[in-house]
Amino acid sequence: MTSATDRPRRSALYLPASNAKAIAKARTLPCDVVILDLEDAVAPEAKAEARAAAVAAVEEGGFGHREVAIRTNSLDTEWGAADLAAAAASRVDAVLVPKVNGPGDLDRYEDALASAPPSLQLWAMIETCASVLALEPIAARASSTRLSLWIMGTNDLAKEMRAQLTPERTPFLPFLSQAVAAARMHGLAILDGVCNEFRDLDVFASEARQGLLFGFDGKSLIHPAQIEPCNATFSPSEADLAWACAVIAAFAAPENEGKGAIQVNGKMTELLHLDQARRLVAMAEQIAASGR
Ligand code: COA
Ligand code: MG
Repeated sequence: MTSATDRPRRSALYLPASNAKAIAKARTLPCDVVILDLEDAVAPEAKAEARAAAVAAVEEGGFGHREVAIRTNSLDTEWGAADLAAAAASRVDAVLVPKVNGPGDLDRYEDALASAPPSLQLWAMIETCASVLALEPIAARASSTRLSLWIMGTNDLAKEMRAQLTPERTPFLPFLSQAVAAARMHGLAILDGVCNEFRDLDVFASEARQGLLFGFDGKSLIHPAQIEPCNATFSPSEADLAWACAVIAAFAAPENEGKGAIQVNGKMTELLHLDQARRLVAMAEQIAASGR
């Protein structure tokens, strides 16, 4: 497993960096990722204060196993350059950049982070019409930049497309699927968009299951109540692990030595399934080690 792209990212909680109470609470919540937002969740008059609060929160630490990202404003706004400079000088794990339109934008963010430690990752929102029509070239920047993860921004995409964001998400399904394929092609991790219905956990759970079905590593969240159901959905289940152990044991059996295709529990099973089984077990071990 590579640490940058293949670690548990089941649940990524956004919070406005201007909200000190939410930052304090995030240190106690069972999410895998905390995103300190300087962009959509922060009003223009609070941008500078939020930037300082995000940097101070990273400096103070206390986030334990959780990865911490700062979501900056776009470099096309009056706040972007200062946000990027502040994040680059902090010890944050990742900088999440919004409203990327094409591969050239990744190069601009890469340049803006030139002075940051090599371990700092660049994460990008996929949320504009231009980006969903340039998924593969944007993902290909993984080889020449710090880019390691995408997050779908379904609210902004709905706004730009003038499409309706219903629980079924019908207008967005082709893009969700294409984004997962482009991300996988270039070794990026990828997280699903947020569910605005934070008081209705049934709606949330069904949307999370849809994300799992599509191949997302996890989901971005807006409220603490969404974390537990999200972790439950994106963790390997007991049945998954029983299957994985059976596959690993079957390929290790002497009678199957050197075989590429065997039967396990009445199903055709190939070496590619052995890879999937090993990944599931490794992910479950990482989740257990993190205690969440
Ligand atoms: N992160 C951490 N804590 C959060 C939180 C979040 N995203 N959202 C709410 N909380 C905390 C509240 O501070 C409150 O804490 P308390 O019990 O100690 O007082 C508790 O959880 C319950 O909050 P609740 O009253 O249910 O919600 P709210 O009405 O205060 O806030 C939102 C609702 C939607 C405004 C809020 O959840 C939020 O700001 N979410 C994130 C928005 C965001 O970042 N958007 C950008 C990306 S899409
Ligand atoms: Mg947005």
